[in-house]
Amino acid sequence: MRERDLEALDDLDDLDAPDRERMRRGRRTARLTEQARDRLAEQREAAALDDGPAEGGRWSSWDDADERGPRPYPGWLVTELDAVDAELGILKAGKEADVFLLERALPATGRACLLAAKRYRGADHRLFHRDAGYLEGRRVKASREMRALQHRTGFGRNLIAQQWAVAEFAALRGLWAAGAPVPYPVQRIGTELLMEFVGDADGTAAPRLHQLRPDRRELAGLWRQLVDAMAILARGGYTHGDLSAYNLLVHGGELVMIDLPQLVDVVANPQGLAFLRRDVDNVCTWFRSRGLPGGVADPDRVVELLLDEAGLR
Ligand SMILES: Nc1ncnc2c1ncn2[C@@H]1O[C@H](COP(=O)(O)OP(=O)(O)OP(=O)(O)O)[C@@H](O)[C@H]1O
Ligand SMILES: [Mg+2]
Repeated sequence: MRERDLEALDDLDDLDAPDRERMRRGRRTARLTEQARDRLAEQREAAALDDGPAEGGRWSSWDDADERGPRPYPGWLVTELDAVDAELGILKAGKEADVFLLERALPATGRACLLAAKRYRGADHRLFHRDAGYLEGRRVKASREMRALQHRTGFGRNLIAQQWAVAEFAALRGLWAAGAPVPYPVQRIGTELLMEFVGDADGTAAPRLHQLRPDRRELAGLWRQLVDAMAILARGGYTHGDLSAYNLLVHGGELVMIDLPQLVDVVANPQGLAFLRRDVDNVCTWFRSRGLPGGVADPDRVVELLLDEAGLR
């Protein structure tokens, strides 16, 4: 992804001016006062001397986040600083990242939420490969960082992993603010991002689209949701960049788009149109294989529609 992509993502936030205003106002009041911080530290110290978080838990990392999701924070999100994070298990080990299930809870009140923690790993082959295509032209200013990237040192690998986490968090923030069906981005710390868990309250993750065999009506409904989602991205000038039935979850009949670190700026990226075309081809092929008529899942028509939405025709 090019540097411009990330900057342009901020423009997506601009789509919702009242939201932005709320965020600005919120930012001023969100910081803890010194006093509150001291009080909290004392409380935590006291609790640690007492029994502290139960085994397997640690204090919520919300306060340590490098960045957080857009305001207003959703009502289901536990933001209290004396909440406890407990890791409940791994959802999926991937080539470039592992995804874990996390519970953030305030045991005293019974308030809790489930989160998906995506942790990028540095030492992976496909990561470097993907790096070459999507990050083309991206400027890395510090020469120490440049050298580390070139020589693939441990520091360089970690830096790449962090860049992917930063890119995915920015993509989720921008798309969520634009109204796209993506998980709410909760926070990022280094190479780890926390997002809304898409699944049931008992921790069962939503299936990927490719695992489903929808009947005709469901298939048509999912197709409509997908085209709507792609249109929202296109309106911001984007395409997913790695869209397939593997990167779409379906929960309660609703489609959710995931895995967005490589979000592609259709204009700024020299291969932008090719990425758009590939995304459309991938999903059209899957929907046709499941029985959606070719006249509906027609790549040429969908590409035209998306280019219209992007103002590129
Ligand atoms: N927010 C979420 N809620 C529930 N499950 C999720 C969530 N995010 C990711 N997952 C699960 O983890 C899997 C991997 O996530 P993702 O596609 O973002 O990572 P990845 O490293 O690209 O993995 P892969 O290489 O398998 O595509 C998803 O297919 C899905 O099953
Ligand atoms: Mg994926």
